[in-house]
Amino acid sequence: MNGKKPVPRREVEAAFKQYVSAYNPEDPKIALKIGHSYRVAALCERIGRSAGAADTDLTWLIGMLHDIGRFEQIRRYNTFSDAQSVDHAMLGADLLFHEGLLERFIPDLEPERRGVLEIAIRNHSAYRLPDGLSDDEITYCSILRDADKIDIFRVNCETPLEDIYNVTTEDLKTSGVSEEVRRCFLNRTAVLRSLKKTAVDYVVGHLCLVFELVYPISREIAREQGYVDRLLSFQSDNPETAAWFEFMRSGMWR
Ligand SMILES: [Fe+2]
Repeated sequence: MNGKKPVPRREVEAAFKQYVSAYNPEDPKIALKIGHSYRVAALCERIGRSAGAADTDLTWLIGMLHDIGRFEQIRRYNTFSDAQSVDHAMLGADLLFHEGLLERFIPDLEPERRGVLEIAIRNHSAYRLPDGLSDDEITYCSILRDADKIDIFRVNCETPLEDIYNVTTEDLKTSGVSEEVRRCFLNRTAVLRSLKKTAVDYVVGHLCLVFELVYPISREIAREQGYVDRLLSFQSDNPETAAWFEFMRSGMWR
């Protein structure tokens, strides 16, 4: 996708600021998603360069707009839980591509870029990518999914775990790790939402996202940022859970 017009980043950012100003940027949930969007955009660009994505402007744009559905999700349902509200990735893509929202950010995006942008946004939080995508589409989808996961590690360190997972400190400190969740770590794979039963399962589930990172640069960035290691240093009062975390610390980066 070389030879495309440069994406007018200043204009896109100005339109983004304008768009989110209608959603009370003082609300911590809104502020979190505004910061997340900028960080993911920068991460997409960095990963994209290493992953050989030719269109660096598109990687940036994908990151910038990927969570646009979060703002309406919060306004309508006041939660980030897709299970309890709506699939925010589909909502965002519907608003952008079916309801004309994309034109507020960038009025004349070429059809080819538009197609990739839509596929990347629709599939950014799916457990797995659908079959039938082209190599190019898989690349841009994977870049976004890596960038999003990397910034989730930061969010999970900067927000109390009790708030993220909606659990009590007591539960977090005393719960055990479910057998199926342990198996996911041993198999080095992501944990399906339905397998998470205890408070600390959510922590292990987030750590297992490391195994889903597609590009070596993404692992490098995740490691260099240090948030995964901070999550790994979680101290449990449950001796079995504490031993399990010790085990995970020794095996995470091998
Ligand atoms: Fe998202």
